[in-house]
Amino acid sequence: MESLERAAALIAGAERLVVFTGAGMSAESGVPTFRDALTGLWARYDAQALATPEAFAADPALVWGWYEWRRELARRVRPNAGHEAIARLEHATVITQNVDDLHEQAGSKNVVHLHGSLFAPRCSACAAPAEQGAQGDPPACESCGNPVRPGVVWFGEALPVDALEKAVEAAANADVLITVGTSGVVYPAAEIPQVTARMGGTVIQVDPEPTPLDPICTVTLRGTAAGVLPQIIR
Ligand code: APR
Repeated sequence: MESLERAAALIAGAERLVVFTGAGMSAESGVPTFRDALTGLWARYDAQALATPEAFAADPALVWGWYEWRRELARRVRPNAGHEAIARLEHATVITQNVDDLHEQAGSKNVVHLHGSLFAPRCSACAAPAEQGAQGDPPACESCGNPVRPGVVWFGEALPVDALEKAVEAAANADVLITVGTSGVVYPAAEIPQVTARMGGTVIQVDPEPTPLDPICTVTLRGTAAGVLPQIIR
């Protein structure tokens, strides 16, 4: 059976479906990935200077400004055909590493953000939620006056416990997991598809390039999110 047909049949027959997405999911919406050779954010910016707690402590204005730029970009982009196809899987759990809201914009209801959200700034000290677009570089927390920080997970930080627990439980119980647009090199997120495989579930991968997840995938479709997903999600 041809891979597209095989993937479509596996998805149609799935009872406990999980979709796991990375930056490649949003690439066709105009959001840069991290590790694509020429266009990836880490090919153009220094992750250590922008995406760590130490970077924020050393230069809050620089880090805040960079994430505000990413938030503004994320506000302007729209879901692609891949997000829309995933949103048709009404009972699926969507576990994303992405900090945009394109899955929600497309209509997915059960979305777990492992790495936080550009739209959830919070106080760096008391964690009180902060207003998006508040003035200041960075704004001061209205509750305690400390600097507000982006609501994303930085390198070296723990993932939100509730999100990680929900993701591991969904992956462990999944009979089919579709992994889309992730290089599979950042842990613990990259563990998620491997949990499904270890528990005997079937992993389908959509990515134009080889990834370290290839060996655990029953079906790998070498294509893009917007190009492949509408063909396998009927
Ligand atoms: N459709 C599907 N996949 C694509 C597309 C596309 N149009 N374009 C690129 N890809 C693939 C790339 O081949 C690569 O495998 O998407 C993947 C993007 O990998 P990364 O840029 O490493 O993004 P991701 O895996 O989400 O990074 C994980 O790293 O920096 C941290 O917190 C950040 O959540 C991020 C994490």
